[in-house]
Amino acid sequence: MEAHPPRHVTLGLFIWMASLPSSPIILATASSCDFPAIFNFGDSNSDTGGLSAAFGQAPSPNGETYFHHPAGRYSDGRLILDFIAESLGVPHLSAYLDSVGSNFSHGANFATAGSTIRPQNTTQSQSGYSPISLNVQSVQYSDFKKRSQIVRSQGGIFETLMPKADYFSKALYTIDIGQNDLTAGYKLNLTTEQVKANVPDMLGQFSNAVKQIYAVGGRSFWIHNTGPVGCLPYSLDRFLITAAQIDKYGCATPFNEVSQFFNHGLKEAVVQLRKDLPQAAITYVDIYSLKYTLTTQAKKFGFKQPFVACCGHGGKYNYNSQRRCGAKITVNGTEVLIANSCKDPSVRIIWDGVHFTEAANKWIFQQIVNGSFSDPPVPLKMACHRTENP
Ligand SMILES: *[C@@H]1O[C@H](CO)[C@@H](O)[C@H](O)[C@H]1NC(C)=O
Ligand SMILES: *[C@@H]1O[C@H](CO)[C@@H](O)[C@H](O)[C@H]1NC(C)=O
Ligand SMILES: *[C@@H]1O[C@H](CO)[C@@H](O)[C@H](O)[C@H]1NC(C)=O
Ligand SMILES: *[C@@H]1O[C@H](CO)[C@@H](O)[C@H](O)[C@H]1NC(C)=O
Ligand SMILES: *[C@@H]1O[C@H](CO)[C@@H](O)[C@H](O)[C@H]1NC(C)=O
Repeated sequence: MEAHPPRHVTLGLFIWMASLPSSPIILATASSCDFPAIFNFGDSNSDTGGLSAAFGQAPSPNGETYFHHPAGRYSDGRLILDFIAESLGVPHLSAYLDSVGSNFSHGANFATAGSTIRPQNTTQSQSGYSPISLNVQSVQYSDFKKRSQIVRSQGGIFETLMPKADYFSKALYTIDIGQNDLTAGYKLNLTTEQVKANVPDMLGQFSNAVKQIYAVGGRSFWIHNTGPVGCLPYSLDRFLITAAQIDKYGCATPFNEVSQFFNHGLKEAVVQLRKDLPQAAITYVDIYSLKYTLTTQAKKFGFKQPFVACCGHGGKYNYNSQRRCGAKITVNGTEVLIANSCKDPSVRIIWDGVHFTEAANKWIFQQIVNGSFSDPPVPLKMACHRTENP
C-alpha cells in the first residue's frame, strides 16, 4: 500500500513542475522514501573513520565540538553525511574498515580520507593519497553485501549488526569524490590543461563504479559534485599561484576552473548513467556553488575568516603542511600540541586548511536537504523516485 504524501510535499512538486515545463516529471503521488540504510563512497569529505582505522586515528582536536574526542572525521564535529543520516533517522555510519565497535545494521561507509577515483601510481607515503580508491571501495561494497548476509544468518547479535537483505535495494547510496584526483595531478606538476585532459578518465572510472554498485543492487544515488579547491588554504599554500590568478574574493582561479570543468563532466556523466541504468534514481547535488557562496559571502551567513584555518599552525592561512591540525612536538620530553583549535569553530568555515567545520557542514546540509541545489530538484527524502523525461 502506498501512503499518501503530506500535502506540502505534493504542493512543492506541483510548483516545481509548473516552473520547469521541460523538466522530468515526478508523480505527484510519490511518497517519502523511507531509506533504511546508507552506503557511502568517497574521500575525507565523508570519511567517518576509514582512514583512521587503517592508518592511525585523526588526532585531537578533531571531533572536539560534537563527539568531544577524535571520531575518525577530519572536522571538529559532524560531516554533511552525518547530517544526512540524522535527517533520515539512520545512525551515523560505521566505517567498513573499522573492526572495533562497528554496527552496520543501517549501512556502511567505504570512504577514506585522501581517496581518489583513479588508483594512484604513487604510494600513500609518497603522495598522501589513500590506496582505497573508488574501485577498491566498490569491491569492498560487493564483498560486504555478500558476507554481511552470511554473518547475519547466524542470528543472535550478528543479526543486529548487519543490514537486512532488502536494505540494499532500498538504501541511499551517497558518493562524494573527485577533489583529490584534481589535486593529485597538480602534485605531479601537471599543468591545468594536463589535469583537465585526465578528467574524462576520472569520470569514466566514476561511472564504472556507479554501474558496479547498481549491478550489486544499488538504486538510489545521491552524488555530490566537487568543491572549489582553489579556495582552500591547502591549495593556496601548497601550489604556486600568481597574483593575477587570485579572484576578487581570494580564491585561486585555475583550481576552481578545473573543479568546474570536472563538475560539468560529472553532470553529463550522470545524465548518461540515467540512460544506462533504467532503474536508478540519480540526484546530482551542487556542493560547489554552496561552498563557493559560503566562502565568498561568509559574513552574510554569520561566518568569519573564510581563508584562515581554525585549527593549524601559523602563517597567512593558519595552515602549515608540516604542522597540520593536531600536530605535536616534544619539548624537554613532554608532548606539546602546536596546532590547536581556534576559540570558536562555530563561526569558522575551514577547520584544518582542507576540511570544513561542523558549522559549515551543517549550513551546507541545510541548503541541500530540500533539493534546491539538486538536479533534478528533489528533496533528500524523495531521492528514491526516478524521474522520467516526458
Ligand atoms: C598510472 O600509470 C598508468 C601507466 O602509465 C597511466 O595509464 C595512468 O593514467 C596513471 N594513473 C594516474 C592516476 O596517474
Ligand atoms: C546496532 O544498531 C542497531 C540500530 O541502532 C541496534 O538496534 C542494534 O541493537 C545494534 N547492535 C548492537 C550489537 O549494538
Ligand atoms: C614538482 O616540481 C617541484 C619543484 O620544481 C619538484 O621539487 C618536485 O620534485 C616535482 N614533483 C614531481 C612529482 O615531479
Ligand atoms: C627545557 O629544559 C631546559 C633545562 O631545564 C630549560 O632551560 C629550557 O628552558 C626548557 N625549554 C622549554 C621550552 O621549556
Ligand atoms: C531550501 O532551504 C534553504 C535553507 O533553509 C532555503 O533558503 C530555501 O529557500 C529552500 N528552498 C526551497 C525551494 O524550499
